[in-house]
Amino acid sequence: MKLIRTGGYGEIGRLAAEIIGEEIARGRCSLGLPTGRTPLGLYAELVSRQADWSGVRTFNLDEYLGLQPDHPAAFRTYMRRNLIDLLHRPPVWEIPDGSARDPLAECQRYEAALAAAGGLDLVVLGLGRNGHIGFNEPGSPADSRTRVVRLSHSTRMANRAGFLPGEDVPLFAITMGIGTILDARRILLLASGRDKAEALERTMQGPVSTEVPASVLQRHPNVIVLADAEALGGGKGVAS
Ligand code: GLP
Repeated sequence: MKLIRTGGYGEIGRLAAEIIGEEIARGRCSLGLPTGRTPLGLYAELVSRQADWSGVRTFNLDEYLGLQPDHPAAFRTYMRRNLIDLLHRPPVWEIPDGSARDPLAECQRYEAALAAAGGLDLVVLGLGRNGHIGFNEPGSPADSRTRVVRLSHSTRMANRAGFLPGEDVPLFAITMGIGTILDARRILLLASGRDKAEALERTMQGPVSTEVPASVLQRHPNVIVLADAEALGGGKGVAS
């Protein structure tokens, strides 16, 4: 893993946008994209750059199960609001359909679409406080593929934003698997803020263990970590 210590949250977004921009400039490429607070700066940066994404295919990492596609907290809504609808020449964009009647068939369709695109050239990841990537919670097998997963209580509480008071965060989601992620040719892991420090340390320095799903990234030959001082266990600054 190659660690780049950034000067702060803004620099994480700018450097990540440069790396993605290089991929897009090569013409046809396929990208894996995350949601959450961490990539918001990256998406704002990509929107301000307005590259031509028309030769690009993007695949989101995950989606809640059981939400209508236009639900305010659906990752589909997040992507439209923060990136896709703001691009003048948008990519061909895929995200698991969390409203699919047959979620297992939807997982198979998603893996097939990824394979048909030739796999991912680059996948961008955020980091969950418990070390999850996508929605691969602790215990997720390193060879897992796109599947239905049950979300941990802590993940559901961390993701309350976008849900109305009294509305439950879904118990289940569809996520690309760890194996699906590891098949990407390059991986970019973004980490910002003090609440990611323990997970980031265990990801980079801990033993490779399914208990810290992101730690399996140590086995991938081409991972760049963009982190700020807080996520690296020091400094001050504000994450987002
Ligand atoms: C969610 C997403 C992950 C994301 C994580 C961290 O659980 N499924 O893909 O990386 O949250 O989110 P944040 O960046 O808001 O801390």
